Amino acid sequence: MFVLGLQGSPRKGGNTDTFLSAFLDRAAQAGAAVKTIQAAKAGIVPCKGCGYCEKKGACVITDDPMAMEIYGLIRRADLVVAASPVYFYGISAQLKVLIDRCQTLWSRKYVLKVKDPLASERKGLLFSVAASRGRQLFDGIHLTAKYFFDAIDARMDHTITYRGIEAKGAIRKRENWTADVETAIEKTVLPLVARNRVLFLSAHGTCRAPMAAAMAQHRFADRIRTDYAGMEKTDALDETMVRCVQETGLDLGYRRPQSPEEAFFGSTPDLVVVIGDGFDKTPYPDVEHLHWPLPAPPSTDDQSIKALHFQIRANLEQLTKRIR
Ligand SMILES: Cc1cc2nc3c(=O)[nH]c(=O)nc-3n(C[C@H](O)[C@H](O)[C@H](O)COP(=O)(O)O)c2cc1C
Repeated sequence: MFVLGLQGSPRKGGNTDTFLSAFLDRAAQAGAAVKTIQAAKAGIVPCKGCGYCEKKGACVITDDPMAMEIYGLIRRADLVVAASPVYFYGISAQLKVLIDRCQTLWSRKYVLKVKDPLASERKGLLFSVAASRGRQLFDGIHLTAKYFFDAIDARMDHTITYRGIEAKGAIRKRENWTADVETAIEKTVLPLVARNRVLFLSAHGTCRAPMAAAMAQHRFADRIRTDYAGMEKTDALDETMVRCVQETGLDLGYRRPQSPEEAFFGSTPDLVVVIGDGFDKTPYPDVEHLHWPLPAPPSTDDQSIKALHFQIRANLEQLTKRIR
């Protein structure tokens, strides 16, 4: 399981940072892979409002951290934690820049009408803190978070807000804040970390493995977590495969080829499905393996990829018996 924390305060060691760090430390102890994006330092370019993503499904800005890393991390995350102080009754500008760039993911979902394979299981957690105590203090933050989580296909599962906290680090004096971290871990992390990890592995990891991982994730969403890898280093997923899978409604946008070490952010899988041949040695000698003797498509035309899709679907039928 992978938890992505989005830290929206520019104050390092401030209240938002303190809470998010404590949460991610506990998530890591529970077995999750974790990563924090410090929004204030990330150097994300603001959305230009150009409408390119609504036509093309990708952002026109291709050379900033959002394009090069953060979209991909959001796509891989099982839980996204949006953490921000209240600034003038809303999300901090630093985090809002990142959120606005998710218009691209909104476009993929609502204009291209494709669904992320993790969509039905991804969770969102909102954390916020503010100095004053007004009744509507968190209304603006709630609304932004609600539509942000919807755009990134995450179900807003848990919200933690604190009023009356102003000075840097004042949250540490708030009674029960560590108990709140524990409750959030129990609710959002423990159910997801318990799922078995199934790795789909092929020689190149650009076509068969990512296709099978996406289809299996979609099919067994609540029971397993899938990932894919290739034994050889490659630059991009097979474009025809990505397009053909998208035609079935599954979104493989912002996914890249991965080595076995990168899959599951380094956690060992519980089951490896080796697709095809082309390598002798498994990176996981102690893990149970299945072999699917599906050869690489003879050419990357639509017909071959669709035939492969059909074969993988049939093979997934057999997996049903193993996955409960
Ligand atoms: C620019 C700015 C705007 C703020 N606006 C509000 C506000 O509208 N309502 C409020 O209660 N606190 C407001 N605050 C106070 C912060 O929300 C509060 O100090 C919070 O604890 C800061 O969290 P941090 O330590 O994670 O940065 C504002 C602070 C700043 C710097």
